[in-house]
Formats: sequence, structure tokens, C-alpha cells
Amino acid sequence: MNVLVIGMGYVGTTTGLVLCEQGHKVIGLDIDKNKINSLNEGKLYFYEKGLDELLITHLNRENISFTTESMDAIQGSDIIFICVGTPKNEDGKADLKYVREVAMLIGRYINNYKIIVIKSTVPVGTAETVTNIIMENNRDHIPFDVVSNPEFLREGNALSDAKNPDRIVIGSSNMEAAKMVSELFTNMTAPIVMTTSKTAELVKYASNSFLALKISFINELSTLCDRMNIDIDEISLGMGLDHRIGPYFLKAGLGYGGSCFPKDVDALITTSKDYGVNLSILEQVVSINESKPLYFIEKVARTLGELKNKRIAVLGLAFKSGTDDTRESPSLRIIEYLLNAQSIVRVHDPVVTSSMKEVEQFTNVIDTVREVDAVLICTDWEEYKQLDWNKVKEVVKQPFVFDGRNILNKDELKKVGIQYHGIGKP
Ligand code: UGA
Repeated sequence: MNVLVIGMGYVGTTTGLVLCEQGHKVIGLDIDKNKINSLNEGKLYFYEKGLDELLITHLNRENISFTTESMDAIQGSDIIFICVGTPKNEDGKADLKYVREVAMLIGRYINNYKIIVIKSTVPVGTAETVTNIIMENNRDHIPFDVVSNPEFLREGNALSDAKNPDRIVIGSSNMEAAKMVSELFTNMTAPIVMTTSKTAELVKYASNSFLALKISFINELSTLCDRMNIDIDEISLGMGLDHRIGPYFLKAGLGYGGSCFPKDVDALITTSKDYGVNLSILEQVVSINESKPLYFIEKVARTLGELKNKRIAVLGLAFKSGTDDTRESPSLRIIEYLLNAQSIVRVHDPVVTSSMKEVEQFTNVIDTVREVDAVLICTDWEEYKQLDWNKVKEVVKQPFVFDGRNILNKDELKKVGIQYHGIGKP
């Protein structure tokens, strides 16, 4: 099959490369020339482990190429995946601007039967919208089908998630087209859910919102644990062993960030209101999430007192480990609070370079923590778990560590004379 993937973000790039692995010829299309040049040179312009090797492999085998020329790319394909971004609009809904533009181009250039697969996270009813836009622009009435196939991969785990999904959800009004899309994934063992487009679209929002709900639940409970002197990680362990609950997404911390959960939960809340339904449970999820960075800062202030002129090391800028994405990162909110309180902020991240002028960034952790009054762990990078805490203790001004991700061993830190503060930790 000749597959075209439109939108070379981490979902589009990963989808394209995984389709190459399944034996298809893939073209990646994007309007951003810099992204396309970089990908054609075998360089990922974002950080995602394992993907760069795969990119070089499939470029060398001529299984994939990248272009900005939409007409040739559309006309040379049998199946088109739409993977463009759907950022948050001012009203909280997903902005379909890029999806619409792509649908218009497909309608204009379509030259023979094609299946258009929507992978972008889109509001319920978008498959219908895309169908209508293609029809309006498709002067010769060339037949086509639209299929919804939401993506469930995580940044930082993109490749393994895309190759080993828990499930594949395919929605369409034409089961033949849905079946053809399912055949693209025959090498995968995941169960396939065949359904309508609307259902497939809602499954994606429901899944992200439920995961966000799990995180907010455990984060809210961690506040209670703080008061009751109980370890939240042990609560998560005890709960997670129940198969009905499961151990995942029960890690207390600074709240969820990234380009997906905050946007998708908001979008589901707003969309549900359009249907006269108030998903108040999700409003609570959002409000708990938004309270976490400040809760963390208050913890720091309780120990340090006045934050003004205190030197604080913030370890981690990315919204989670394994990515260079800082969108909606709790770390940035924490830095903002610290700067407002007139602290002196020193930052470190293994892959993110900060563009903030008000903070000083260091390339190694020991330089970052030199002479600081407190060390704040804001991203769960492996590097921070492996730190030499004896060395840290030697160079800091005050031995206070605030672990916003509960990744450190309190007893180890205590042994070297560091006072440890976690989230929901006795
Ligand atoms: C999320 C979903 O997990 C994917 O299934 C989905 O495909 C993707 O959104 C998307 O819609 O594109 P992602 O945003 O990459 O993936 O990252 P996650 O690993 O889900 O983490 C989201 C946030 O939750 C991070 O800030 C993470 O630190 C936080 N988190 C996660 C917790 O605070 N606790 C946990 O137990 C798990």
C-alpha cells in the first residue's frame, strides 16, 4: 500500500515509521519545510528514543520520504492518515483549522478511490465534517471513505506504544473501508474494536480523561496522606494490585501536563456542555490538577520560610521524562511561582534547553545545585534517580530536597543527611 501521512509531529512521524515496519511505502507530508528537510536528512527535530534509528533505517531502504508538495503526495497514495495537530481553542475546544485545511486539499487533489484515516484527536463528529469538506471540494465526485482510528501512543514511549498497542479502535460508516484499515495492522496482536466514527472519536477523549481522572484522584489522596502521615506510593501499590483498578496512572506527583490530557479533558468538558451534559467530575479533575504546582511551592515555603532571594534548583523542565516537550509542564508553573516570589532559579534538564531569560540553566546537575537552599525534582528523569547524593550534600547550601515526582529513596537521602520531602510521603 502507498500510505501518505499528513502532519509530521510525533504521532505522524511514529505512525509513518511503524507503517514502514509493516511493509508499506510511506510519504510524510508537512507544511513546515524545516521539519521536512530535517526528516529527509535522517534527523528527528524532537526527542523520542528509538525513533531516530528507525528513521535512518527506512530512509536508507527507501521505504519513507518526506515532502511539502501536497498534490503529488495525495495523488500517489491509496490511504491517507491525518495526523495534524488539534490545539486548544480559546473556548476550550479542539481547533480543527489544520484538519479542515488538509480535508480541503484532499478534496481538491483526489484522483482515485482513497481511504482517509483520521488519527488526530478530534471532537465527535469530525469524520462527518471531513467527509463534507472533501465532498465540497471533490468536483469529479471521486469515491472515498473516511475512517477514524485514534492514536493512543505516549510521548517518550511512542515507538513501543505504536508497535504494541493495547487495542486498535477503528470507526467508520463503511465496514469495508474499516476492514482495509485494520489490515494495515495485521502484524499486531492487539484486539481491534470496530465501531462507528463517533464512537471511536469519543473513546479517545474518554480514555485520556479517565487516565487524567486517575491521576487527579491519587493526587488528591496524596494531600490526605500528607496530613495523615501515610505513604501514597503504598496506597497506590495496595490499590493497583486489584485488577479492576490496575497499577497504572496512580503515581502521585505534580499533576499531569503535556499536549494531550489538559487539552482533551477541557475539550470533553466543553463538548459535553454543547449536549446539555455537565461532566462535573472532569471539572474537579482539572481543578485538582491545577492546584498541584502551588501546593508543591507551599510545601517548599513551609520549610524554607520566605522564598525571596532563596536559590532554588529546579531539576526537570519536560512535562515528563523521555520527551523534550514542555507544553503544560508543571515544572514551568513552579518556576513561574518561584520567580514571582523573587527566588533565584537555577534549572537543569537532560534534553530541554530553556528559553527563559530569568533562570540560569546548567548542563550538569551538580553545578545546578551548587549553593542552593533547596533542590526541586520536577521531572521523573532516570538521571535524577541515579544522582550521587553525597556529592549533592557537599555542594548545596541547605540540604532540602523536594521530590515532586516521588522518584527518590527517602532513606538513602536521610543517610547522607538530606531532609527529604515527597508528595504524600510521611
Ligand atoms: C497521553 C496518553 O497516555 C496517550 O495514551 C495518548 O495517546 C496521548 O496522551 C495523546 O492523546 O496523544 P502523553 O501525554 O504522551 O500520553 O503522556 P502520559 O504518559 O500519559 O503522561 C501524561 C501526564 O501525566 C504527564 O505529565 C505525566 O507525568 C503524568 N502522570 C502520568 C502522572 O502524574 N502520574 C501517573 O501515574 C502517570
